[in-house]
Amino acid sequence: MPENRIEDRLAELREKIHYHNHRYFVLDDPLIEDSKFDELMVELSDLENRHPELIVANSPTQRVGGGPSKGFSQVEHGIPMLSLANVFSYAELEAWHKRVIGSLDVDSIEMVCELKIDGLAVSLTYQDGSLIEGATRGDGNVGEKVTANLRTIKSIPLMLLNSISGVLEVRGEVYIPTEEFHKLNNERIELGIPTYANPRNTAAGSIRQLDSNITSSRNLDIMVYGLGLVETDDTPASHWETLQMLRDLGFKISLHNIWCDALGDIQEYHELWQERRYSLPYAVDGIVIKVNSMEFREQLGISGREPRWAVAYKFPAQRAVTKLLDIKINVGRTGSLNPFAVLDPVVVSGATLKMATLHNFDDIQRKDIRIGDWVVIERAGDVIPKIIGPVLDRRSGNEKIFEMPDKCPACQSNVAKPENETTYRCSNPGCSAQFYELFKHFVSKGAMDIDGLGESWCRLLIAKGLVKELSDIFILSNEKLLLLDRMGEKLAKKIMDNIDKSKQKHPSRLLFALGILHVGSDVASLLIEHFGDIDKLSCATKEELTTIPGIGTKIADSIIQHFSLEANRIQISKLRMFGLTLVAPGELVDVSSLPLAGETFSFTGGLEKMSRSDAENSIKQLGGKTSTMVTSKTTYLVVGGSPGSKLEVAKRIGVKIIDEDYLNILLAG
Ligand code: IVH
Repeated sequence: MPENRIEDRLAELREKIHYHNHRYFVLDDPLIEDSKFDELMVELSDLENRHPELIVANSPTQRVGGGPSKGFSQVEHGIPMLSLANVFSYAELEAWHKRVIGSLDVDSIEMVCELKIDGLAVSLTYQDGSLIEGATRGDGNVGEKVTANLRTIKSIPLMLLNSISGVLEVRGEVYIPTEEFHKLNNERIELGIPTYANPRNTAAGSIRQLDSNITSSRNLDIMVYGLGLVETDDTPASHWETLQMLRDLGFKISLHNIWCDALGDIQEYHELWQERRYSLPYAVDGIVIKVNSMEFREQLGISGREPRWAVAYKFPAQRAVTKLLDIKINVGRTGSLNPFAVLDPVVVSGATLKMATLHNFDDIQRKDIRIGDWVVIERAGDVIPKIIGPVLDRRSGNEKIFEMPDKCPACQSNVAKPENETTYRCSNPGCSAQFYELFKHFVSKGAMDIDGLGESWCRLLIAKGLVKELSDIFILSNEKLLLLDRMGEKLAKKIMDNIDKSKQKHPSRLLFALGILHVGSDVASLLIEHFGDIDKLSCATKEELTTIPGIGTKIADSIIQHFSLEANRIQISKLRMFGLTLVAPGELVDVSSLPLAGETFSFTGGLEKMSRSDAENSIKQLGGKTSTMVTSKTTYLVVGGSPGSKLEVAKRIGVKIIDEDYLNILLAG
């Protein structure tokens, strides 16, 4: 294609993708199928790969890019990012309203009510319609530049839908959807690392990741609620119109905002959302009331760090008392025995609660929670309630003290509690309950991201004996998947495609997916950043590991323990054999030290257990070379079914002839 035709096509593709991205992630109203969207992305990234000089920062392919950064630089906000004063009752709200109308000397004012999302405030700066900088609030005056991480949030437009000249700074709340928050915390309980206290901390922690791949895996979202510094033509005279303008520019605006002038309407809005807060896919901790007129805002001004023109009206935490019927145990991926409470169902703010988390045995002991107790439960910013403690006055004496079992409830193996840990664990690495959880984790979005392989399919694959260890996923085929009840051709193809794609995942993702105790996604990134290679990591000593900032003895011990098991080392060899990426791209490896250095492989005929490209990939990762021709420089000719003329050539010039099984032995190191 001539250069200008390529540029035209690139521009056309980018525009289409921005448009469909907005339909999908902002409006929640896609116009085309996911597969069509993927096709557009594939065409764009292919073209950009062939013409890297034409890549621009705001291309949809650049949402996740680059490796980990070294740190964040500071950004001074052109206009400070303020916080809000809180009120907790209608009387306090009335007092705020009275002060506002009093100081404006009016009888009534227009206000806008919004939900107060429990996330973190960010600023997005656009220059001539392109996103050029994203920052956190920081202390209100100076924040951190987290542009690369904010770019990964698909509902943040990289280009505005209508071009606006000059600078436009937009502000909003980045949040983690509740479902993702729970997934992440369950993950952390599993790994024995501290859980995030609330969705706000989680969103903040995710935005401050040095590796934007981690931010991306957290599936953050944003709701935009106002403007910061603006150096463009006129801006609207009211907040309501500002929100409409932002919506038209492609931002995600809450659908629950209302415009009103009566305090009674605000109270109704507060009560309505206090009831319904848990039906929202994100955590909210109150409502925000803002004066609509920009001119009035100007007149009201700021007091300290808080504007006089807005106030947060918080929701109280919801508590209830119910009976604790039982304490049961779920066996996690790393063998952790996780106790949970079975409650006599109770309705709290519109939802029937039947279960509550009980973090660990120590927690149960510390709070002296007994089976049969009446317990106080609280639903704060969370969907799953917490048990605050027992109601001691209501004890009958028939309550039972809970004891941790000494055998795993799933496989009856012994249970152990490592020193300095609060978690009890099943000691059998082959425990079926553990493997099911590990398998689910391996294919999950933040790990190998094999979309389509949901929990029930994982269960079935294990039950049918098709997956006995993680690497078995890579010997699945369309035919095998179709053996499963209710599996359709379309889904089988999708799963196979995603399994194939997963082989290209960065090794830090693979390392995280292996589910090693204490190795979460951040630790996995740190380790790969240091070693560049899972193989090297697997041979690392404790001294070597603990010199890495952020890696302590607990993590180091766990890694050493993991790789000391032969079964785990075999898994790595098999994964390599199936063409997974064990070495970080761009990592400078001393090729001469690798096991296949100096050896050249050529192929003839079809392989049975793996594709030729996977085999070639694995050979290259071990330092070997591949060639399409057989010459005197070829070390091995790999012969599969129905070989061609290369076999004769190899025999004639004395090249070693091997079969697929022998190749596998070489690849397994
Ligand atoms: S307005 C001056 N609107 O609450 C007004 N804030 O303590 C500044 N928040 O830092 C923010 N939802 O992180 C506004 N609809 C909303 C909000 C909201 C959540 C957060 C924001 C801010 C904090 C105020």
